[in-house]
Amino acid sequence: MGEIRVFDTTLRDGEQSPGVSLNFEEKLEIAHQLARLNVDIIEAGFPIASTGDFEAVKAIAQEVEGPVIAALARATERDIERAWEALQFAEQPRIHTFIATSNIHLEYKLNKTQDEVLESAVKAVELAKSYTDDVEFSAEDSFRSDKDFLCRVVEAVIEAGATTVNIPDTVGYATPQEYGALIKYIKDNVPNIEEAIISVHCHNDLGLAVANSLAAMENGAQQIECTINGIGERAGNTALEEVVMALNTRQDYYTKLTDINLKEIYKTSKLVSSMTGMSVQANKAIVGENAFAHESGIHQDGVIKERTTYEIMEAETIGLSENKIVLGKHSGRHAFKDRLMELGYELDDDNLNQLFKRFKDLADRKKTFTDRDLEALVEDEINTIPQAYELVNVQVISGDRALPTATLRLETEEGVVTESAYCEGGPIDAVYVTIDQITGFNCELDDYAIDAITSGKDALGEVTIKLKYRDRLFIGRGVSVDIIEASAKAYLNAVNKIVYENGDLIADQKEV
Ligand code: KIV
Ligand code: ZN
Repeated sequence: MGEIRVFDTTLRDGEQSPGVSLNFEEKLEIAHQLARLNVDIIEAGFPIASTGDFEAVKAIAQEVEGPVIAALARATERDIERAWEALQFAEQPRIHTFIATSNIHLEYKLNKTQDEVLESAVKAVELAKSYTDDVEFSAEDSFRSDKDFLCRVVEAVIEAGATTVNIPDTVGYATPQEYGALIKYIKDNVPNIEEAIISVHCHNDLGLAVANSLAAMENGAQQIECTINGIGERAGNTALEEVVMALNTRQDYYTKLTDINLKEIYKTSKLVSSMTGMSVQANKAIVGENAFAHESGIHQDGVIKERTTYEIMEAETIGLSENKIVLGKHSGRHAFKDRLMELGYELDDDNLNQLFKRFKDLADRKKTFTDRDLEALVEDEINTIPQAYELVNVQVISGDRALPTATLRLETEEGVVTESAYCEGGPIDAVYVTIDQITGFNCELDDYAIDAITSGKDALGEVTIKLKYRDRLFIGRGVSVDIIEASAKAYLNAVNKIVYENGDLIADQKEV
């Protein structure tokens, strides 16, 4: 492990972001990518929360090699037993148990006295310890807790066997100076603190999560809990890429490093944003589209003369290659495969053939391909779930005086089906009504967003949508030079996820 341990909670706290719900395959794919990123600990989920979470934690524990795999459990017997059931096959399992310690939580949420909370915490750690040596305890809402009670709890759980003690700022209320001082206070006032790793977990309600985590580290914290792109409850958590790059870039000041494989940062960020449907703002530090762009003439001139005039990091460090034109219509299979390998994609023959065919079809409509285009194609093409409905082709008639009409051909289990429909809402609406007509579903469109992958008139358009089904949101994504086609693909992508997860139910009802 690095001097600073990176505990990634994208799949647990990150998945608690409003509107985000990852399926089993998506969680597994993200976990594999987190292992390539070389995080020290993956918090894979909260097994008691749902069967889906349980199954995902279990599969990650069985399949993902390298990092410690952690699962969250409240300080109760049922939660801890369920967490262990999911984790038991991991090479390095960690049970992460928690209970709140602030008076406000004790009084209004738990209805417990301090002594009762202390007793529950100790019992939980003892039970977790009977399953695995690696036990983390979190004192939820630590920052707003009575400091001396917090120290008592921390001392008692270490005595009971906790190997990591986490001091969360659950509501994102702390300032860096105060949070750093709290960590120092714990170090100075918990007699057995050297027997455990001090972890920090910050929320970003005031935009201070990264600053607070760094201040804590300066005062003795050895583990930082974070998420990719900073996603998470409300305003999110400490952003992994920001805290890691701060340590790396300001090594002269912080003098402590993580073991993160920096070259995987950009790819991980893209994967998480595409799977969660949470796009990254352009001016986001490290992974935003503008993070390494120079707009003003003075800056551009400076960078051309000497990069360090206006750049403190190199884009290549996080795996972001220069976005130059790499392939065109005449590029062959070899060049295509080589470039994908250089970008870090290892595809099997089937996927490669499929992708190359798609590239050739698109190359007739789009003259040049950059690395960003290729990344978008790969993410779009690699389907982790069966395709109940696949787009064969789409055609729309639209105009300021025409009634928008769509005709679609879809490959279905019953063969190719063709349908047309019109709709006053516009061409994309007409496409969606036609798809509903074929599938027999009536999906509620919760969100629709369109983005251009690169600039230029022939840029690839990327459409991300959210469909609501039984109070859950399903994210769909589609990429094409034609935005109508991209919209159709995104919708079908979400429908296929709904069918995959609710197959039996849908067969009975045919009504989404
Ligand atoms: O924010 C928080 O306090 C948490 C704990 C469960 C660690 O997420
Ligand atoms: Zn949290």
